[in-house]
Parts: sequence; structure tokens; C-alpha cells
Amino acid sequence: MAGYIVYFTRSGNSKRIAEALSKQTGYELVELTDGMNYHGVFGYIKAGYFATQNKPLDVKLSKEVPVDANVVVVSPLWAGGVAQPTRLFLRTRQPKNTSVLITSKGSVAKKLESRNDFYFVGDIVDRLKNEAQILGAITKRIKE
Ligand SMILES: Cc1cc2nc3c(=O)[nH]c(=O)nc-3n(C[C@H](O)[C@H](O)[C@H](O)COP(=O)(O)O)c2cc1C
Repeated sequence: MAGYIVYFTRSGNSKRIAEALSKQTGYELVELTDGMNYHGVFGYIKAGYFATQNKPLDVKLSKEVPVDANVVVVSPLWAGGVAQPTRLFLRTRQPKNTSVLITSKGSVAKKLESRNDFYFVGDIVDRLKNEAQILGAITKRIKE
């Protein structure tokens, strides 16, 4: 079945993982942006600040994604929760046909609204070296 991989990335890790998953599943890549510049030290501080605030952002997709489509969202973890632009996008989707992959340096997402309702949730954590394992698991689940 066709689907989309919607990724948000600041430093490229989530994009790289989204691309790997696209190769495994054939799902189409779509970039999510919010018009903010998160580069450099100030960008990092801004990202950290937004992660703790419920700030409205101008979330945009590089391609239209039908509302009932199967979607895998790939996003960095920011201060214990998915990055704010991703969080806003997730609120517009039906959890039952939405999967979430959260990339991080060392920790698992503690704050994820409706965590148990999504089709699949995977935490890809650098420290755990579990990228191949989680990508294998979600690919298997998608092809079921
Ligand atoms: C503002 C900010 C907050 C972060 N908070 C966490 C965190 O709480 N736990 C963690 O393990 N990694 C944290 N990270 C690291 C990123 O989640 C990790 O490097 C991620 O894979 C980056 O993805 P990207 O390259 O697609 O932006 C944070 C990074 C940023 C910029």
C-alpha cells in the first residue's frame, strides 16, 4: 500500500533515516518545515525554547499528503518530546494510520501525546545503536 514519510530535521539525522525507510518501503518522502531557522547556537536555543512552549508555528509540507493516507513521521526529540513543528503536524492526523519514529542522542521520548494510539512508535536512539532494528520492525509492520 502506498504511503508517505513526513520528516522534520534540524541537523540531518531524521532526514537520513527517513530516506533509508523510503528505500525499504517505497513510501514517498515529504519534508515538514516551519519557516524558522534553527541553525547554529541560537537555532539550538530557539529549538530548545520552542520544545518547552506550545508555540504556534507555520507548519508546511513540501508535498500535499491526503488526510487518510498512511504516514510515517520522522522527527528529532527535543527536550524530552517530539520537536514542536512535528507535534503540531501530528495533531492534524488520525493516529491509527500514523506511525512515529523519534530520533535522539540518548533518551526515549517521555512526552508524546496519544503514544498508544499510533500505528507504530519507535525511538531510534544513537546510544542504543538500535536504528537497524527499529527500521526493520516498522518495515515489517507496514508490510503486514
Ligand atoms: C533543542 C534540542 C533538544 C534536544 N533534546 C534531546 C533530548 O532531550 N534527548 C536526546 O536524547 N537528544 C536530544 N537532542 C538531540 C536530537 O534529538 C538528536 O540529535 C536528533 O537525532 C537530531 O535529529 P535531526 O538531525 O534530524 O535534527 C536535542 C536536540 C536539540 C536541537
